[in-house]
Amino acid sequence: MPTSTLADTARGGPGPRLRLLATIGLMGAAGLCAALPPAIPPQVDTSALPAAPMPWPDENPYRGIALAAVIGRDAFNQTCAVCHGPDADASKSPAPDLRRLGRTCKRVRDTTLKQRCLQDVDVYFRNSVLKGKVKVGVRHMVAWEGILTPEVIWAIRTFIESPDAGKH
Ligand code: HEC
Repeated sequence: MPTSTLADTARGGPGPRLRLLATIGLMGAAGLCAALPPAIPPQVDTSALPAAPMPWPDENPYRGIALAAVIGRDAFNQTCAVCHGPDADASKSPAPDLRRLGRTCKRVRDTTLKQRCLQDVDVYFRNSVLKGKVKVGVRHMVAWEGILTPEVIWAIRTFIESPDAGKH
């Protein structure tokens, strides 16, 4: 004898299947929200770097600046490593390995094309960081806009694309 029938649904109840789906949905959302660590800006000093240009440029203004990569590593480990892995080595982490971003650009020989390729990645990177990530209605990463300064965001990008990324 089923505990719930079509008649239950007709009486206005949501029916067992819908109730179950709703419960799983709530559990899932609550679980993920609880797992999101608080978005706290890293304690780093970017004053020795040139001010990041505004409005947002399409290209990382710190590309190739060694100090930016050093500061970026520190900021990354304080703020991003919990999901994207220590020193950007995500081999044991739940979130994507950010070292992959732009890896194909490095193989492009033509310098103009290579620059355009890197610009695309820079724009994707900054937009992902500023807006965060939501998948099927569930937030996987907070929007870092207003939490991280542009200097910190570009310093992190510089570290991730440096040969030191992934090295502990
Ligand atoms: C709470 C965990 C969490 C934290 C903390 C976090 N991220 Fe993410 N991030 C994710 C997840 C999960 C994704 C993948 C989401 C998706 O696939 O839609 C992601 C995606 C990204 C992407 C896009 C990657 C791609 O391959 O498409 C970038 C860039 C990124 N994060 C940068 C950062 C930076 C920089 C920080 C630190 C300031 C950071 N994230 C902190 C969880 C996190």
